[in-house]
Amino acid sequence: MAQLIPVDPFDLVIFGGSGDLALRKLIPSLFNRDADQQFSADSRIISVGRSPISEADYAEQVREALEQAGVEAVTQHPVWERFIERIQYFALDALDGDTWAELAQHLDGHEHKIRAVYMATPPNLFGPIAHGFHQNNLISADTRLVLEKPVGRDYESACDINNQVGRYFNEKQIFRIDHYLGKETVQNLMALRFANSLFEPLWRREAVDHIQITVAEHLGVGNRTEFYDEIGAMRDMVQNHLLQLLCLVAMEPPASLDDDAVRDEKIKVLRALKPIGEDASASTVRGQYNSGAVNNSIVPGYLEELGQESTTETFVALKLEIDNWRWSGVPFYIRTGKRLKAKHSEITIHFKPVPHSIFPDSAYPTNPNRLSIMLQPNEGVQLRVMVKEPGPGGFQLRPVALNLSFAETFGVNYRDAYERLLIEVLRGNQALFMRRDEIETAWLWVDGVLESWKSQAQPVESYTAGSWGPVQAELLMDRDGRSWAQRN
Ligand code: BG6
Repeated sequence: MAQLIPVDPFDLVIFGGSGDLALRKLIPSLFNRDADQQFSADSRIISVGRSPISEADYAEQVREALEQAGVEAVTQHPVWERFIERIQYFALDALDGDTWAELAQHLDGHEHKIRAVYMATPPNLFGPIAHGFHQNNLISADTRLVLEKPVGRDYESACDINNQVGRYFNEKQIFRIDHYLGKETVQNLMALRFANSLFEPLWRREAVDHIQITVAEHLGVGNRTEFYDEIGAMRDMVQNHLLQLLCLVAMEPPASLDDDAVRDEKIKVLRALKPIGEDASASTVRGQYNSGAVNNSIVPGYLEELGQESTTETFVALKLEIDNWRWSGVPFYIRTGKRLKAKHSEITIHFKPVPHSIFPDSAYPTNPNRLSIMLQPNEGVQLRVMVKEPGPGGFQLRPVALNLSFAETFGVNYRDAYERLLIEVLRGNQALFMRRDEIETAWLWVDGVLESWKSQAQPVESYTAGSWGPVQAELLMDRDGRSWAQRN
């Protein structure tokens, strides 16, 4: 088992403290780590929200959030008293300078601790909150700022936000979250690539036919329809999570695990991403779900949920190319969507077939070797190799999977990615966070695709909820003589 090392005393200020992210992810994550004895007695969690609710009411919200997160008999839990003691709630309007005094007073005298400011708010508040900290003299060299995604909605707005917070915080103090980087299996991708000598020599154009990345969700947009309709799957998932996965798969081996060593390699991948260009329809598919059956129940279509017409995409499939020596000519197919058949995220490396087969054609299926890294829900690694079918009847070959299931091997339930990320903020490790240039470069590339969609009026293809997306996504592969690696 991994060792749990206590973190130095801290004051963690959460803006958006009674919002969905704070209650669903941050509070349960902090509770778990408190239960793991990682927090010192004087560490505090300071929740900030706009509503003037009492401490008692906020404590009740925390209790409910923990219950929702699966903690049984919350108030009887041995850590409850200690945890709730740490939490204070302040009502504050980030845009109104007059409302900061109480918070400032509460933080006063605690400068010796790490001060982390988590902005679980819409991005238009990032600048004003940073400014509020500056104006109230609350920033020291050990103050850290955490920016939840999305950082902007395009290159320009991302630069604007980065400039606003950059006025008061230097890059070493800014932690931009992409929670996929905190997922255990995403980290395991690094272990797989760089802690084994087996794969790296094959991790290149000479041996790899193509690579697929799928991040499929069975959930719809839920109660975020208004927000989601403004952004769509390209901005919500591709700009961050999928491009980050792509970077980790495609980057050169970093010299060390240091923050910038890893991020320097990731940015090179983003810079080498070939622009999609004018004719996006040849290499991209946009989709939107109709009503259909998911997990045996009929769910409404996106437009029904939204209650109005919209061409926002809830599904994207893309064929990408990376213009560098390692990957020249190797296509990367990525797709993500809501209301797909299952929650399933996987990266698959499809290796080239053997150069010359000594087996009769009938006995040897093509493209046999495949390495799958399963991110969720069943974390693991699977290597598909060819074997001879046992028994008489000549050489009949068949692909068989060598399976490593992390749950079976380690017997653990993986913790939420936010747990790790919060601790990394408190420790000051930036490797799992996006640097300014990464975010901006990713936006530049994404903006190119969005512009092309707009100028070419690329249609949004419909798909039935509970399927694997629009048929056009299958055709994208089919045109290249390939198909998506299906699980269910
Ligand atoms: C978020 C997106 O960043 O990631 C959501 O905004 C999406 O739309 C979520 O549902 C998926 O995260 P996970 O960890 O459930 O795969």
